Amino acid sequence: MERLDKILASQGAGTRSEVRKMIWAGKITVDGELCRSIDRRLEPSEHEIAVCGVPVCYRKHLYIMMNKPRGAISASNDSHVQTVIDLLDPSLRRKGLFPVGRLDKDTTGLLIITDDGAFAHAVTSPGKKVFKTYRATLDGALSEEDVRCLTEGAVIDGGEKCLPAQVAVLEEENFVYEIKIREGKYHQIKRMAQSVGRRVVSLERTAVGALTLDSGLARGEARELTEEEMTLPLIN
Ligand code: URA
Repeated sequence: MERLDKILASQGAGTRSEVRKMIWAGKITVDGELCRSIDRRLEPSEHEIAVCGVPVCYRKHLYIMMNKPRGAISASNDSHVQTVIDLLDPSLRRKGLFPVGRLDKDTTGLLIITDDGAFAHAVTSPGKKVFKTYRATLDGALSEEDVRCLTEGAVIDGGEKCLPAQVAVLEEENFVYEIKIREGKYHQIKRMAQSVGRRVVSLERTAVGALTLDSGLARGEARELTEEEMTLPLIN
């Protein structure tokens, strides 16, 4: 059982004090009955709460897919630089949202945003080894020997050894490759490319586990994961 003001604030209806004012102003109904008591306790999934007559679709956690644009940073807040959370439409905002893992400022593509710590841990935990798929445009072609180095486990600067990656050619003439990795080391794809004498010109994440980037989402756009997507095996 939770307090009504806390439930509404958790669903993005406003800050705790904004929500209280709405309750006092008689804008909230519970199962069709006006409720002016901020400390009313209820089980949110068992009642229909409405704000100004519009039902609140209660969700314990939010799971969002964003097509990250260049320039935004994978953080929850920053006083100087635009974060991925700043880009969210107000209808998707709520307290506690954070990006699941990090993409570099200049990397685009699939980023999951949630307020569910256990889910984020399951996806990013090194032990789970979830495959992340990238479309990498390089400054030149990979030789067979380069591909062998990457697929056997690149040794990146400082002597750190990566787990074996999967590499496929997407556009030979434009040096575009699909690279799948099971870790999330700092600048990993860029450092892997560097280890075979190549530079990443652009990088887009296209999938996390079996969840693929919705091609209908423009850069900077986001939407909730569908029920079907929520059932996909993120963990391979
Ligand atoms: N590897 C990188 O180099 N950058 C990213 O953003 C993700 C993977």
